[in-house]
Amino acid sequence: MTDTVVSQPVTAKLTHAAIFLVVTLGPDPGGDEAVRELCGDMASLLRGIGFRHPDRRLSCVMGFGSAAWDRLFGTPRPASLHPFRELQGVHHAPSTPGDLLFHIRATHMDLCFELASEVMSRIGSHVTTVDEVHGFKYFDERDLLGFVDGTENPVGQDAATATMIGEEDPAFTGGSYVIVQKYLHDLKAWNAIPVERQEKIIGRRKLSDVELREADKPSYAHNVLTNIEENGEQLQIVRDNMPFGEVGKGEFGTYFIGYARSPARIERMLVNMFIGNPPGNHDRILDVSKAVTGTLFFVPSATFLASVVPPPPTAGP
Ligand code: HEM
Repeated sequence: MTDTVVSQPVTAKLTHAAIFLVVTLGPDPGGDEAVRELCGDMASLLRGIGFRHPDRRLSCVMGFGSAAWDRLFGTPRPASLHPFRELQGVHHAPSTPGDLLFHIRATHMDLCFELASEVMSRIGSHVTTVDEVHGFKYFDERDLLGFVDGTENPVGQDAATATMIGEEDPAFTGGSYVIVQKYLHDLKAWNAIPVERQEKIIGRRKLSDVELREADKPSYAHNVLTNIEENGEQLQIVRDNMPFGEVGKGEFGTYFIGYARSPARIERMLVNMFIGNPPGNHDRILDVSKAVTGTLFFVPSATFLASVVPPPPTAGP
C-alpha cells in the first residue's frame, strides 16, 4: 500500500453494537448520483456524528457488489470482484442480492442508529433495503451458541496483512473484500447436544475458551475446517460476527462478516464448511445453523471513496 492511500476501518477494534445494512439500487439512475455523492461525503458524515462521542468509536465500512461496482464506477474494476458463489453441499449457502453494504460499528447502538438514519435519509428513496440486522455482543464476546467468538482474529499488522490488497492489484491497494452471511440457529437442537460434543464441533472449550489440543480435535471441528494454508502459511481473515435475534419470534442468529484481501480464502473456508474437507466431512455448526443470506462486496479505500464526485449540476433555466 502506498503512503497516500487510507483504508476504510476494516480492522477497527471489535465493538458492542453494529448495524449491517444491505441495499439494492433501484432502476432510477438519479439514485446512482445520490450514492456517489454519499461516497464523497461519508468521512464528513462520520465526523459529524462521531465527534460528539469519540470514545464510542463510531465507524462505517461501505462495500459494493459486483454489478453495482460496474454501474457506479465502471473500469477499472477490482480483480477478484464477482457475485457470491452459492454452495450446495451437505448444507446450502445461498447467494442473495446486495449492491451496497454498510457495516456500522460503535460501542453504543445510538451512534450506529444515527449514522444508518443519515445514510438512509440520503439514499433511502432510491434503494431497497434487502436486509437490516442490529447486532449486539452477548456477555463475554460470546455468540448465541454460547462460545466466545473472535479469539483467533489476527490483530495489528497481521490484521492489515490479512485484509488489505497490496501489489496484487495495484489500482486497488488498501481495498479489501468482505463476505456476509446471516445464520439462523436452532437453539433447541444445539442446547440438546452435550457440551463436550459442542466443544468438539467448535474446537474450543465452552466456558474457558481454551483451544482443544490438536489430537483432541475431530477433523470436522470448525477451527480445523476454517484453518487453511498456502505454501505452509496460514491464510487469515478478520471476522466481526454479531449475535442478533427476536425472542418473540424465536429467532436466534449469528451475522457472519469476514474481511480478506482476496475472497478466495473465505470461499475456501466456506467450501470446507458446507461441502466438507474431504467432501462430506462438513462443519456440524451447520446442522443447527441455516445460512439465509450470502453476499460478496468490494471495500475500496477511504481515499477512493473521498475522490468520488457526482457530476456538476446542470444549469437551471
Ligand atoms: C454460524 C456461524 C458461525 C459461528 C457461530 C462461528 C463461531 C466461531 C467460533 C466460536 C470460533 C472460535 C473462536 C474464534 O477464534 O473466533 C470461530 C473461529 C473461526 N471461524 Fe467461525 N463461526 C461461524 C461462521 C464462520 C464462517 C462462515 C467462517 C468463514 C467462512 C468462519 C471462520 C472462522 C475462522 C477463520 C476461525 C478461526 C479458526 C482458527 O484459526 O482457530 N466462521 N468461529
